Amino acid sequence: MGAGASTGISEAVTAASAADMAAAVAALPDAEKAKIIAALTAGKRKNVIGGNWKCNPASMADVKSLCAAFKEAKFDTSKVDVVICACNVHAVAAKEALGDCGIEVGIQNISKTGMGAFTGEVPVAMAVDMGFKWCLIGHSERRSLYGETTDDTVEKLKVAQAGGMSIMFCIGESLAEREGGKTDEVNKSQLDAALPLVTDWDKFVIAYEPVWAIGTGKVATPEQAQETQRNIRKFVEEKCGADKAAKVRIQYGGSASPDNVENLSANPDIDGFLVGGASLKPTFVKMIEHLGK
Ligand code: 13P
Repeated sequence: MGAGASTGISEAVTAASAADMAAAVAALPDAEKAKIIAALTAGKRKNVIGGNWKCNPASMADVKSLCAAFKEAKFDTSKVDVVICACNVHAVAAKEALGDCGIEVGIQNISKTGMGAFTGEVPVAMAVDMGFKWCLIGHSERRSLYGETTDDTVEKLKVAQAGGMSIMFCIGESLAEREGGKTDEVNKSQLDAALPLVTDWDKFVIAYEPVWAIGTGKVATPEQAQETQRNIRKFVEEKCGADKAAKVRIQYGGSASPDNVENLSANPDIDGFLVGGASLKPTFVKMIEHLGK
């Protein structure tokens, strides 16, 4: 392309409103549109890393020593959101131990019901009142071990959003589904009803966690994770438009660790991680620092 053509582009861009430019990009063929969106958004999404402690660690002493280690992390809060999802009985203590170091504490399983006679649940209003800003919804262990349905995840999304919480919405396929070529179909089915209900795309994060990679040490290859997450982003575009697709943050989860953080996060559609086992070690700091520099 000669100098004349690039001058033409810069003049046209200067003269156009944001709406004109969005309309011009929207009218292009999909492949061209994707290139422009990728160029405009490259490096602009803020990373997000969650430590999902599940039902760990065993003692309050361990909670305190992990939090003390994490407090030492050097990271730029404008580059990464860091959230530890502690077990409910530890959450308040973890929050106190982390203080104002920039690491938030989240709820692993927010309730779809409110306050009142709902034994064993953690309602949004109570979580928010206690200062918890983040929650997980639809973790595969909730789905497979406790019968959480896609409808449940949608109900939870509605109440969590209404309460102003930020959400890591977990999806992902089983080994049989991947081997059967159903990965994208499963991810779409887990997102289909939720996506049109999202009201704040800064507070809605998709956590792609292939079930076969969770707790197995069998991490997805960077190519597998990137390809799947690219397809998830394309589905967000189909359902909600290119601007939402460019904005939504997509985490990878499943045996993510300091050893693979660099190769995975180098991919354009991987905006962070949801980490289980590796978030229960002081070396989790390395993952935070990699994303937050
Ligand atoms: P692991 O990192 O232990 O595989 O767990 C992933 C996970 O389930 C996070 O939610």
